[in-house]
Amino acid sequence: MLTLNLWKCLIIICLYFTIKTTSSQIAARPHIILIVADDVGWNDVGFHGSNQIPTPNIDALAYNGIILNKFYTTPSCTPSRAALLTGQYPIRLGLQGIPITAGENQHLPTNVPTLPEKLQELGYKTHLIGKWHLGAAFKNVTPTSRGFDSHFGYWNGYIGYFDHEAKGGNMTGLDLHFNHEPIWNRQGNYVTDLLTKEAEVLIWKHNVSEPLFLMLSHLAGHAGRKGEDLEVPNVENNDERFGYIASKNRRLYAGMIHELDKSVGRIMEILAEREMLHNSLVVFISDNGAQTVGEHSNWGSNWPLRGLKMTVHEGGVKNIAVAYSPLFQYREQVNNDLFHIADLMPTIYAAAGGDVEDLGTIDGINQWQLLTQNAGSKRSESLLHIDEVKECAGYISDYGRYKLINGSTLFEDYDLYYGEHGRGDSSPPYDINAVISSPAYVAIGKNIPVNKMLQLRKKATLENCRKPISPDNKCTSKNWCLYDLFEDPCETTNIASTHPEVVDRLSGELRRAWTYLKPQKPKFVDPAANPIYFNNTWYTWLDD
Ligand SMILES: *[C@@H]1O[C@H](CO)[C@@H](O)[C@H](O)[C@H]1NC(C)=O
Ligand SMILES: *[C@@H]1O[C@H](CO)[C@@H](O)[C@H](O)[C@H]1NC(C)=O
Ligand SMILES: *[C@@H]1O[C@H](CO)[C@@H](O)[C@H](O)[C@H]1NC(C)=O
Ligand SMILES: *[C@@H]1O[C@H](CO)[C@@H](O)[C@H](O)[C@H]1NC(C)=O
Repeated sequence: MLTLNLWKCLIIICLYFTIKTTSSQIAARPHIILIVADDVGWNDVGFHGSNQIPTPNIDALAYNGIILNKFYTTPSCTPSRAALLTGQYPIRLGLQGIPITAGENQHLPTNVPTLPEKLQELGYKTHLIGKWHLGAAFKNVTPTSRGFDSHFGYWNGYIGYFDHEAKGGNMTGLDLHFNHEPIWNRQGNYVTDLLTKEAEVLIWKHNVSEPLFLMLSHLAGHAGRKGEDLEVPNVENNDERFGYIASKNRRLYAGMIHELDKSVGRIMEILAEREMLHNSLVVFISDNGAQTVGEHSNWGSNWPLRGLKMTVHEGGVKNIAVAYSPLFQYREQVNNDLFHIADLMPTIYAAAGGDVEDLGTIDGINQWQLLTQNAGSKRSESLLHIDEVKECAGYISDYGRYKLINGSTLFEDYDLYYGEHGRGDSSPPYDINAVISSPAYVAIGKNIPVNKMLQLRKKATLENCRKPISPDNKCTSKNWCLYDLFEDPCETTNIASTHPEVVDRLSGELRRAWTYLKPQKPKFVDPAANPIYFNNTWYTWLDD
């Protein structure tokens, strides 16, 4: 396999001979780079006000672009990724349940079009690097059958950062593939770096006169080996770097986020080097809130928000999102309009020059005008979730003011307050110079006054709004919880009893959503999927 430097040489030789023709044709269709982080919490990026884990590259992207500060996802991986790639609420697809376990025959319905399929129709080259998590029992449900020209990465929910093994029930096997080929010879390579290198080579090999859609779907900051271990390239160096963080596990998590941030910088750098950045849309999101404690806990922080991944409280569903493009007329802003993860599908399709009418009836709303013209959100409300098995549902309305909850959490106690605030004396002060010297900032090449960046940071930051949660403030499927998020972003006070008309209206919306809910299949991990039958790799076990 050619190394990145060799590719650079080849490309430069090519450019030398074709420079006249290529530089005169600037493609109308932008390159689209969608970076998805896994289980990274609201408070785990610098631009949301924490000083604990510096993320200078992500912050540079945020300050240069638009910080989407009311970006809602579903409470967990599979449903969020299903909504992201189809523009549909997961309850239409039967994928609203607990994320797919390795060895489970669950997948995106094959008749529902995906974003990369629609982008292929527009002439895009489409590539997935990293996590899929939308089914792998058959070849025809894997990424290369669902719109991606290529996939380098893993099919299941998580792998070890070094051993690249995924676990399902009591079965374990390698889950790193190029398309359908298992990749054995990279074991021992730290996965965040490995995926980034693949992305760099791919961008270098890409013919810049053709539009690129690259989804870089990182493992960070999900728990790694066996879904339990937090893994960094070098524990000693990491302990030194984050010595001011008391918790050993939080230090490891910080190291994982540090690598994720470096990846964002490298991608921005290479887009600039290849002169693609001036015609690119770069989106960075997290798929759901952090799992501070509990299953697959990663010690991430949703502070000050209430709840973890797997809840419809804000900590589970209100997530990090940043969009950057030189094509935006108004950049350097914090946007507080409602945006749902399902909106990215039609928004990106519109960005690519597609007519969203082609997408038929979907739940996602085209927000391209919001991004390019600061036009205000076309979305006033959104279904957040219904899980009919775990009895958990949420609906948000009135441009993000009211949230109605009918059963808040899939697991006991995930609906409380967790996570470190990362402010005050226990962390170093915020280092704006690190942002200015970050590869992402340099790649974008625009000087933003320091004050402006600090103002944006302040605007994007939620102050502490927590209060003790009283026992009658537990939201089960037997009682309604209603919150006024404009007044009470920490969901401390259930106002259902004083706002019966809002409860009526929103519960009506939930009832309507139930009418199109496709029931989820019972969870079943198929012993026939066992990697022992496939040379210790996960494979599409139900093909002939
Ligand atoms: C693995 O789990 C399956 C069912 O979940 C069970 O039948 C089997 O005995 C288990 N195998 C081992 C080695 O524990
Ligand atoms: C790059 O893409 C353009 C437009 O599709 C095509 O004309 C050209 O031949 C391609 N160049 C290479 C080296 O493949
Ligand atoms: C509230 O949740 C329960 C249990 O999941 C369900 O039976 C009921 O229909 C829900 N109410 C609405 C309005 O969705
Ligand atoms: C089987 O797995 C081993 C690693 O355990 C690997 O070295 C070997 O190449 C694999 N064989 C095939 C045919 O893929």
